Amino acid sequence: MEITVTLNGKRLKAEIDPGELLLDFVRRQGCYSVKRGCETSNCGLCTVWLDGTPVLSCSTLAARADGREVTTLEGVEKEAAAFGRYLAGEGAEQCGFCSPGLIMNVLAMERELSRPTEEEIKEYLAGNLCRCTGYMGQLRAIERYLNERGGETDGENG
Ligand code: FES
Ligand code: FES
Repeated sequence: MEITVTLNGKRLKAEIDPGELLLDFVRRQGCYSVKRGCETSNCGLCTVWLDGTPVLSCSTLAARADGREVTTLEGVEKEAAAFGRYLAGEGAEQCGFCSPGLIMNVLAMERELSRPTEEEIKEYLAGNLCRCTGYMGQLRAIERYLNERGGETDGENG
């Protein structure tokens, strides 16, 4: 079957198998940031946005993306790099395998929640697993990022 998808701002038509996963589809289009982890909806490594909302691409059929917008880390590179600097600054990026999925959810959370509390952050990111860190570094990085970005938005930076 053929689908039409806007992937990272570019409209494309592609042939897919009806059972093809969105994970395999985006990787087939060269979006290798999207990682295959558990494949059972438990780790968050395969997170992409479908019309701006995070979904697990390992449990979403590519056919569901027909006529919709799909965004991967490759489509939000500038913001991802900005947050990545906070992760590195807190020593929260070790092997980095989980980072793309985490970053997609942090950026979605930033759009969705205004000044989230620590509990809200933990709840939002509960589906993002990391084998390397104890999560405290990630949490510090997220809080610093949101605070400093919030300051920028409020014109308080500098
Ligand atoms: S690979 Fe999709 S949630 Fe783990
Ligand atoms: S940094 Fe290695 S899995 Fe998260």
